[in-house]
Parts: sequence; C-alpha cells; structure tokens
Amino acid sequence: MLWGGRFKESLDSEALKFSSSIQIDKTLLPEDIQGSKVHASMLKTIGILSDEEYEKISNGLTQIEEEYLSGLWKPDESIYEDIHSAIESKLNELIGQAAGKLHTGRSRNDQIITAVRLWVKKACEEILEVQKEFQNTLLKLAEDNTTTIIPGYTHLQRAQPISFAFHLLAYVEMLGRDCERVKFTSKMADESPLGSGALAGSTLPLDREFTCKELGFNNPSRNALDAVSDRDFLLEFLNSCAIGMMHLSRFAEEIVLWSTSEWKFIRLADSFTTGSSLMPQKKNSDLAELTRGKTGRTFGNYMALLTTMKGLPLSYNRDMQEDKESVFDSFNTYYSCLKMMKGMMETVNVNKTRYLDELKGDFSLATDLADWLVLKGIPFRQAHHIVGKVVQLAEEKGILFDELTVEDLKAIHPIFDMSAMECFEIKTALERKKTFGSPNPKMVSEQISFWKEKVKD
Ligand code: ARG
Repeated sequence: MLWGGRFKESLDSEALKFSSSIQIDKTLLPEDIQGSKVHASMLKTIGILSDEEYEKISNGLTQIEEEYLSGLWKPDESIYEDIHSAIESKLNELIGQAAGKLHTGRSRNDQIITAVRLWVKKACEEILEVQKEFQNTLLKLAEDNTTTIIPGYTHLQRAQPISFAFHLLAYVEMLGRDCERVKFTSKMADESPLGSGALAGSTLPLDREFTCKELGFNNPSRNALDAVSDRDFLLEFLNSCAIGMMHLSRFAEEIVLWSTSEWKFIRLADSFTTGSSLMPQKKNSDLAELTRGKTGRTFGNYMALLTTMKGLPLSYNRDMQEDKESVFDSFNTYYSCLKMMKGMMETVNVNKTRYLDELKGDFSLATDLADWLVLKGIPFRQAHHIVGKVVQLAEEKGILFDELTVEDLKAIHPIFDMSAMECFEIKTALERKKTFGSPNPKMVSEQISFWKEKVKD
C-alpha cells in the first residue's frame, strides 16, 4: 500500500477490487518501467540516489519487466490499485529499502500521465505504419484499375462513370488525412509531465530537462497543474481512431455491397470470407461487416472520455482513471481493422469488365451531353432541360442513349450533330474529363505517383 500512513484500516477488499485498474493499465508496464528508470537516473544525477541504489532500482525494474513478460509475475487486482503501485511493491520485495526512494519527488499523477504519453506516441507510430501499408495496398490495386470503369453514385443512384482506381484514391486521400491526424495527436502527446508532482511541482531540484530528453519528449510541460489534468491528447487520439474507423466503415460497407450477387463487382478471397452453417453456397463478408460494426464502439469511446472530463475541477480526479480503457480499446480496434482491411484488399479479385457492357449508352452519361451543348453556347440550365428530354425520349422508346439516332436528337434540338453521339461512348468517358482531380486515367495515374512518393516519408 502506497499511502497507508494516516489510515487506521486498509481499503475494503470489494472497494479495492472495484477501484483497481490493473486489468486495464497493465498495458502500460513497459512505459511505467521506462519512466521509472529515467526518474531514478535523474535522482542519481542530483545526488538523491547513490550509484549503488540506482543500480539496484534499475536492475530490479528490469527483472520485474522480464518476470511480467514471461508470465512469471502476475500483478493481482485484489492486492494492488494499479500497475504503477504493483510495480513499486514488487520492487520493494526484490530490493528492499532502496525501492522506497524511487518515488522521491514523484506522484502517481505525473508518473501515470508520463507513461500514458509515452504509450500514445508509440501507438501513433504503429497506427501510422499500418495506415501507410493500407494506402500502399490501395495504390497497387489502383494502378491496376485506372481504366476499370464503374458507376459513380450519389444517393446510391448511378451518377457518372468513374474508374475503380479513382474510387480507391478517394480512400487514399481519406487515409492521408487520417495519417495527419495521428501525427498531430503524437505531437500533442509529446511533452514530458514528469516532475510535475501531484499538481504543483516539487521543492526538490528535479532536473526536468534531463528526464524530458531521456524519455525522448519534445519539451517539459510548462504548468504542473495542467500537466497532471490534461487529457486533451487522449481525446485527439480517440478522435483520430473514430474518424479513421468511420472511413474504414464506409469502405467496409462498399465491400459488402460490391461482393453481393447483385453487384458482382469483387470477389473476396476465401481466406477473408466466412461460410454459413446452414446454407452451403454462402460466402459472407463478415470481416468487412465486423469492421463496420466495431466502428460504433470507437465513437462511444470518444464520447465517453469527453463526458468523463467535462465537469472535473483541476487537477487530478480519480474519474480520470477511466481514460485508459477507451484509449486501449480504440487503438486495438482501429489497428486490427486497418490490418484486416489491408489483407482483404490485397487478396481481392476485381471483375474489371463488370460494367463495360452495362454502362454502354447508360443515362449516367447525360451530364456529358449537357456539357456538349454548353460548349455549343447553350446556357447550362437550358442544356439540362434539353438532355432531360433526350432521356425521356429514350425511356419512352425503351432504349438506351447509344441506340438513339442523330435524327432523334435533332428532333429535340436542331443544334445536335453527329459529334454529340460521342458523348454516348462509355469507353472514352473517362478520357473526356478535363479537370484536375477528375477520373481521367492520366490524372489518376499522376495522383497514384503523387501518393506513392508521399507514402514513402
Ligand atoms: N490508477 C489511477 C489512474 O490511472 C492512479 C491514481 C493516482 N492518483 C491518485 N491520486 N489516486 O488514474
């Protein structure tokens, strides 16, 4: 027990179990040990620990980490309040008296948030890596599909033809912004709170620059009260995971649709699909569905911590212990979904000619015909109306655009000539796009090169 001095009775066993966070914060063991070692090393440099005491503490901490990782030591929630106090007690068992000096000038308030900040920085790096891997997977798939025509939708109604590469690049862009959010989060976490004590620093000459540098932080935090109370960087982390998951979930939804018999656009590999216990023919996209399903929890995690924090007076309050469960859960969820989606897309089979016939003469080329009229000097609103009439005529005749004749068009407006018929050509629909950021295969290829370079750094 870390604080027994003024108490006559120890904490009720149910109360201890209720309040212990060990099952959650044991994840922080490596970061806690790292923080403690650096703190001890600083205490040595300012003369509070002898060389010998420092060695004992440092070796003891190494042993604890090894015993924990090998499963030899299992910190027990019915004995300890959290992993930080468990480590300190264990150190006491291992090295005796010297262990009592480790906590000099340190409160669990700054100790914990130091470990959490270290953990977040590491987690951001891990997420960034898999985000980029996923981007690479999508870029490879895009490279192979710059002329694979698919319908682009608005309101889930066919709108204009696009390429599969163009569609994938939209996700590459989203992932690009997701990466930026994660980098920003890591920057927010990059301050050393160690040396802030419980809330008001210390009367001991703790060298905060030293611990900051040794732990690899950018700068020591400037206000001890803020340092132990701030959980903004965790909210940024949860937000990054939530937005990242929202993007994955939209993609997952499209994968589910594309792999149905109705769409028949992609085939997921057997290794990324599941069967049905009853219907032998079934091949289900469960992994995409799970990604979509898990998204809700990451939104909840963000709301949960926001709500926990909103009424808390400065500085530390025990409510804040609740921060970690959401953070670890969102990390695990987002990380594993990124990996899963990446695997799914690496092994997907694309039906490249799926829409070629189906979009031939499709009404989704109507905007192109309106643009043709605009280039002939017709105001767009009028052009829109004229093409509406063309669609109506084709529908009345029960035919598609490319089955109409020039005479049919001329009957609607005399300005039409043979060159208007080119607008009904699906094969050249993408090349006809002129604007930067459009699905023109040349521009798409340029975007692919742009991203391939960007993903490298
Ligand atoms: N396990 C707790 C947490 O993560 C530590 C509490 C430390 N501080 C305190 N004053 N009780 O928040």
